[in-house]
Amino acid sequence: MAGKSIQDLSTPAFTVDLVKVKKNAHVMLEQFRELGVQLRPHMKTHKTLECADIMTAGTRRCIVVSTLAEAFFYADHGFDDILYAYPLPFDKVARCADLSERLTLFHVLVDNSAALEELKKWPLKKGKNWHLWLKLDCANGRAGVPHSEPAALQLAEAISESPGVELTGVYAHCGNTYSCCGEEEIKAVAQETTTFTLKFMEKLQANGIHCSKSSIGSTPSCSHPIPDMALLSEVHPGNYVFYDVQQSMIGSCKLEDVAVRVITRVIGHYPHRNQLLVDCGWTGLSLDSGGRLPTGYAIIEGHPDLKLLSMTQEHGRIEPILPGKLDYEKFPLGSLLSLIPYHACATAAMHPVYFIHSNGVVVDTWTPTRGW
Ligand SMILES: Cc1ncc(COP(=O)(O)O)c(C=O)c1O
Repeated sequence: MAGKSIQDLSTPAFTVDLVKVKKNAHVMLEQFRELGVQLRPHMKTHKTLECADIMTAGTRRCIVVSTLAEAFFYADHGFDDILYAYPLPFDKVARCADLSERLTLFHVLVDNSAALEELKKWPLKKGKNWHLWLKLDCANGRAGVPHSEPAALQLAEAISESPGVELTGVYAHCGNTYSCCGEEEIKAVAQETTTFTLKFMEKLQANGIHCSKSSIGSTPSCSHPIPDMALLSEVHPGNYVFYDVQQSMIGSCKLEDVAVRVITRVIGHYPHRNQLLVDCGWTGLSLDSGGRLPTGYAIIEGHPDLKLLSMTQEHGRIEPILPGKLDYEKFPLGSLLSLIPYHACATAAMHPVYFIHSNGVVVDTWTPTRGW
């Protein structure tokens, strides 16, 4: 495979520009090294060993995962200090105990007292304690105890008073940066999340509850860090290593920073409806954008006049955005188009293998882990 041009790949193919990945990872590492904050990159976007090595600068330490499949995959390959940043599912406690006993540091996340009680039923062997992070909801509105409610402090107290359990950190994910438009709005949400989290840390201290770490983050907020983030101990972005059209629209990056593409092939001409057909359906791209972009479900690189109008499982329909006849000579049957995905995490999840290239020449293949 190595040495092949990406033009010669069997389609649809998920390609990753290694130069851009390394640059995106480097910028994030440097930015937080300068701020004096630990970067704990999230693995959910790519789920591969190779990209994890790039994001951790080869340390294989201090990562976040969203599934236990990822946690085991990384643990089995020598990674350690892994935070499973997902509200603890009770069916997975035994496997979490296994990882806690195997690794130097394996962290789990809770946002309710029932989860704490469940963990207490599984005391760890080898004299180990469970490392718990309390998930705080700082206006994101998904998981987490609302930061200002007494329940948050009560849960922290209950954790700190429980034998066999340690309150290691407080975790707030500012997913609400995804409804921002531009740097200023992103920074306002990052400031709010940082302030709420730091205030909660002060509250813990004032109540004599020991907790050493605080972490916030998302790709938009960590792409434009605010000075107060230096007061946190960690940040946990993930998507930035690939970026995507969505991130460029939010203002996290420029479109040229996006490292991933789906290469697709023209497989049909239909002049009677002014459309062409490509071999990328939703199994190659995902339906994540809902087709709401002016260019449909993706951006068709080099063809701002075209729209990926709709997809079925294995087919994609393309037509011109403006009235006028499609010039089929420009898109012969068998020719390739390059789609810039709206949401890299969703698109990567559709592919069993990624083709890694440098200047269009395949240099490697990466195989992600899958499942839960
Ligand atoms: C809990 C949690 N932490 C961190 C991240 C990383 O954020 P991003 O994808 O914006 O980089 C996510 C992403 O969904 C998340 O759900």
